[in-house]
Amino acid sequence: MSLNPPSIDTLISPALKDLRECWWDDEFTEFLTETLRPRPGNRILDVGCGPGTAEVSIGRLHLSQIRLVGIDLRVDRVITARAAAASHNLRAAFAAADAGRLPFASGVFDSTYCVAVMQHISDVDSAVGECARVTRPHGRVVVVEPDNAARYAYSSSSAGMKAFATAASFFTALADVRGDATDASIGPKLPTLFARHGIEPDYVRLFPVSHVRIGAPESEVWAARRAVVERALEFNLTEDPTDRTSLLERGAAHLAALAAYEADARTSGPSFVEIQNTMLFATVGQRIP
Ligand SMILES: C[S@@+](CC[C@H](N)C(=O)[O-])C[C@H]1O[C@@H](n2cnc3c(N)ncnc32)[C@H](O)[C@@H]1O
Repeated sequence: MSLNPPSIDTLISPALKDLRECWWDDEFTEFLTETLRPRPGNRILDVGCGPGTAEVSIGRLHLSQIRLVGIDLRVDRVITARAAAASHNLRAAFAAADAGRLPFASGVFDSTYCVAVMQHISDVDSAVGECARVTRPHGRVVVVEPDNAARYAYSSSSAGMKAFATAASFFTALADVRGDATDASIGPKLPTLFARHGIEPDYVRLFPVSHVRIGAPESEVWAARRAVVERALEFNLTEDPTDRTSLLERGAAHLAALAAYEADARTSGPSFVEIQNTMLFATVGQRIP
């Protein structure tokens, strides 16, 4: 039986978000610090720092005299990041800013990195361009993003495979009515974007993020899976009657598929298996002079 958090559950969220504790491990911190190549006196920028996970992880390594700077669009995240750094006695500066318009002069950072942020941005061209602009010639740029459109999901129950399909259909309709213009498949596209913005792509390293359940999930898992659909349907998301009907129909079909899946999983008991996997694409490049 798995008591893991919902982590990368495609039946709960179509994107990998707010789940860093499920995959940000020591290996990832080591990769980040090795590729950022911090040297004494270096200035390192985190674009979309969230609650400051990277700064705390890198700060714990006690690398001497590096200057960590994090920016995030959301002021509450900046406040959380500041508090996290302070509670670990770390020297790091945080500010609220948009990745598409960084409030820094050109070439002032020795390295720039960005983790799980581009997947939430519609104008990734501007954001990658800004990462390039603020990084000095020969400086490192590291961007780590998933391919949310290529998530793998297996269930030993055919009702489960149907629920994965109805979830994809529902979340696609939801993104459409919300006018979501982000690119679900941004991860593998970063080397091309790098080259377009004056960053020579060096290599891409893949980090798998997986979750395996053996035995029927607990009732809380099913409740969380239902709640995300029910909550989304509560809001009057669109004025367009055709879109609204389509969303309601897909939501109802998905809730029905979830109910059938839950019943089937309970019957299957210990022979039940569910496997989900996604990939994070870490693209490493060097600013061309
Ligand atoms: C999934 S979180 C990742 C946070 C952090 N990089 C991590 O991996 O722990 C995405 C973050 O990107 C921020 N974000 C989204 N759009 C942004 C933008 N245009 N400029 C700066 N930050 C942005 C969000 O506020 C959020 O904190």
